[in-house]
Amino acid sequence: MSLWGGRFTKLSHVKFKKFNNSLKVDYRLIKDDIKSSIAWSKILIDIQILTNKEQKLIETTLNSILKKYSNNITDILESDSEDIHSWLETMLINKIGELGKKLYTGRSRNEQIATNLKLWCKRKSNVILKKIIKLQRIFLNQACLHQDTIIPGYTHLQRAQPITFAYWCLAYIEMLERDRLRVLDVMKYLNLSPLGCGAIAGTSWNIDRKKLALLMGFSDSTNNALDSVSDRDFIIDMLSAASISMMHLSRFSEDLIFYSSGEACFIELSDSITSGSSLMPQKKNPDILELIRGKCSGVYGSLHSILILLKGLPLSYNKDLQEDKQHLFQGLDIWDECLEMCGVVLNNIHIHKLRAKKLAREGYSNATELADYLAIKGVSFRDAHHVAGNIVMKAISQNKYLEELDLLTFKKYCPLVESDIYQYLTLESCLEKKDAIGGVSKRQVQNSLNLIKERLYHIDS
Ligand code: ARG
Repeated sequence: MSLWGGRFTKLSHVKFKKFNNSLKVDYRLIKDDIKSSIAWSKILIDIQILTNKEQKLIETTLNSILKKYSNNITDILESDSEDIHSWLETMLINKIGELGKKLYTGRSRNEQIATNLKLWCKRKSNVILKKIIKLQRIFLNQACLHQDTIIPGYTHLQRAQPITFAYWCLAYIEMLERDRLRVLDVMKYLNLSPLGCGAIAGTSWNIDRKKLALLMGFSDSTNNALDSVSDRDFIIDMLSAASISMMHLSRFSEDLIFYSSGEACFIELSDSITSGSSLMPQKKNPDILELIRGKCSGVYGSLHSILILLKGLPLSYNKDLQEDKQHLFQGLDIWDECLEMCGVVLNNIHIHKLRAKKLAREGYSNATELADYLAIKGVSFRDAHHVAGNIVMKAISQNKYLEELDLLTFKKYCPLVESDIYQYLTLESCLEKKDAIGGVSKRQVQNSLNLIKERLYHIDS
C-alpha cells in the first residue's frame, strides 16, 4: 500500500511502481531516517500528539528496527515499499499499530529526505576526514623515511631539478590538507537542519525547529522552507570536494605509474599490488593506480549528473531529486575507496635509490645552479641563462655531466667561473640551496615535517 492511496481509485501500474521506487538506492539512509524520526517523535510530545510513554515506545521500536535491519539489507530490499521512509513507516505500524501512524503527523517526505541526506553526508564526511588524515599519516611516514632519497623532479615530464622523495610526499600532504579543509567547509552547510519545513511552505504545527535541529546533532535550522526542501547544494559541494580530491589522487597515480614505468623505473610496486598479463609473461602492471586514475571519471560523472539534475529545476521539490542519491553515493563511495587504496599503494612501494639518484643527476638538472652561480658572480640572469644553455650544449656534445667539464671549458664561456663551481653543481648543493620557505632543502623539509607532525598529532583519528 502506498502512503498516498486515499485520493486514488486505481492501483499503480506495475511498471510505474517499479520505476517510481527508490528503495534499492535509498535503503542506505535507514540510520538517518531513524535518527530524524526519533527526533521528530520527541517534538511531537511538545505539541501534545504523543505522550512521553508513547514516544518512548516509538523510540525503542525504531531502535530495534535499526538493530535488526541495518545489517540485513536483503530483507529491506525484498519489500515492495516505495522508499526507505515508507518502508520504515510500514515496519513501525506493523510492530506498534495505530500509534506508529501518529509519528507522521505534520511531517513531509520532502523535508525528511532533505534532512536524511544531510545526516548521511555528515556521517560520510567524518569517514572521509578520517581517511584523508590516515593517508596524510602514511605520506608523512614515507617522507620521514626518505628525507635523503633523491629523485628527479619533472616539469613537462622532462627532468627539471632534483628533489627528494620526502619532498614529493609533502606535496601530496598539502593537497590532501586542502581536501580536508574543503570537507570541513562543506560541513558548515551540512549543519543546518531542514526538518520542520513541511512539504514546501513551513509547518502549521507550533514546533521549535532549533530544538529539533539540536536533537539530531545539527547546529541550527535552515531558514526558508521553500529553499530547504529543494536545496541540494550540499551534494554539489560534497561531490566537488570529492572531484578535486580525486584529481589529486589521480595525479598521484599518474606520478607513480610513470615513476614505475620501464622508462623512469626508479620506483617498484610490490607484486602484491600489481597484476600480470594473460599473454605477455614479463608484464607487471600498475592496475591499482590505473584504477584510481580511471575511477576519477565516475566521481566527475556524479558531479556533472547532479549539476545537470538541478539545472533549471523549478522550486521546490520535484521527483527528479530522487535521482540525486545514486550520484551522491557513487561519488562519495569511490572517493572513500580510492583514499584507502592510495594508502595501500604507498605502503607497498620500493624506491631504487641509486637509480633515482642517477636519473636526478642526469638530464642537466643542475643547469639552473650554473645560471645562478653566474648571476652571483655578477652576470645578469638572462645572460647567465644563455651562457649556461651554451655550456649544456657543450656537455651534451661531449656526452658529459656539467660537473665533468674542466674549468678551462667553463672559463671559455665565462671567465668569471672559478673552481668553486664544482661544489655548486653537486646534487646535494642543488637541494641545499633551496632553503627559502617551501624549498627542498633539508632544513625546510624538516620544518614542514615538524609542522605536519604537530598538526596530525593534535587531530584525533
Ligand atoms: N524517495 C523520495 C526522494 O528520494 C522521497 C521524497 C518523496 N517526496 C515526494 N513528494 N514524492 O526524493
